[in-house]
Amino acid sequence: MINKNIAIIGAGNLGQAIAKGLLASRIINAQQLILSRRHLSKIKNFEKEGVRITQDNKEAVKNSDIIILSVKPYKFDEVIEEINPFLTADKILISVVTGIDIKKIKNSLSKEISIFRAMPNTAIAIQESMTCISADKASDTNIEWVTKIFDQLGKTAIIDDELMDAATVLAASGIAFALRYIRASMQAGVEIGFHSDLAQLIAAQTVKGASDLILQSGHHPEKEIDKVTTPLGITITGLNQMEFKGFSSSVIKGVLESYNKIVKIKNDKK
Ligand SMILES: NC(=O)c1ccc[n+]([C@@H]2O[C@H](COP(=O)([O-])OP(=O)(O)OC[C@H]3O[C@@H](n4cnc5c(N)ncnc54)[C@H](OP(=O)(O)O)[C@@H]3O)[C@@H](O)[C@H]2O)c1
Repeated sequence: MINKNIAIIGAGNLGQAIAKGLLASRIINAQQLILSRRHLSKIKNFEKEGVRITQDNKEAVKNSDIIILSVKPYKFDEVIEEINPFLTADKILISVVTGIDIKKIKNSLSKEISIFRAMPNTAIAIQESMTCISADKASDTNIEWVTKIFDQLGKTAIIDDELMDAATVLAASGIAFALRYIRASMQAGVEIGFHSDLAQLIAAQTVKGASDLILQSGHHPEKEIDKVTTPLGITITGLNQMEFKGFSSSVIKGVLESYNKIVKIKNDKK
């Protein structure tokens, strides 16, 4: 348990996923959580659990120690301006807003406070996110608080803020890239004899197992691949065919193009 009140400003998809993860992990109890958005009817279910819900961002900030800002990027300026007077030096601000760097967040505030940026992915809804976190002038204790929160929601890594765009592509877009592999695998599975449902189960659990092998052992993927590729065997034939068709280079190219697009969008805005 942590003895801090947490406000989530902008309790939409991601904000609610964070809220659910925090409640499920029992790191805080429902009374320590405040959710804010304009359409309260959409978060009534949280109120039944004892969570405070409000349309008043200022009140939410005043009554919290840690504020998680989770509005869409185009709402950032409006909401930060509204809550700025209430962000006192003792509070911690965590922004999950895509594309707004720590420098911009800092310039939007009138006081020096602990600022964090966090980039989770949609697996946060099942507490399996990969969340990259960057910080500005945060004490070790505050870094510990913030890491503790996101550790309940998956795995975390502290990175330089300059790497946040790269983290957005590799972890947030990365979910879609991995799912596309699963879909392709399913399509092939149907062609070699499985019904779609079973092909989905086999493809998804196989990818989960592959991930866990790496995460639990710390091995390089190739070490685990070597265990499956018997000389003259069937796996190496399939793998080599995929590589002839550009599997690794397609993935690398896709990641690079997504990254280049983020950089271009940022440069165009300057
Ligand atoms: N979804 C992801 O996987 C993911 C991953 C990493 C980062 N992000 C980032 O996280 C942020 C939120 O994404 P999302 O997918 O959760 O978007 P979302 O579902 O649209 O949630 C944003 C919420 O903000 C609320 N809002 C709008 N104006 C507000 C105001 N003035 N005061 C308080 N709340 C307000 C909206 O609800 P009302 O209209 O009811 O106010 C809306 O539900 C975005 O910046 C996104 O880029 C998302």
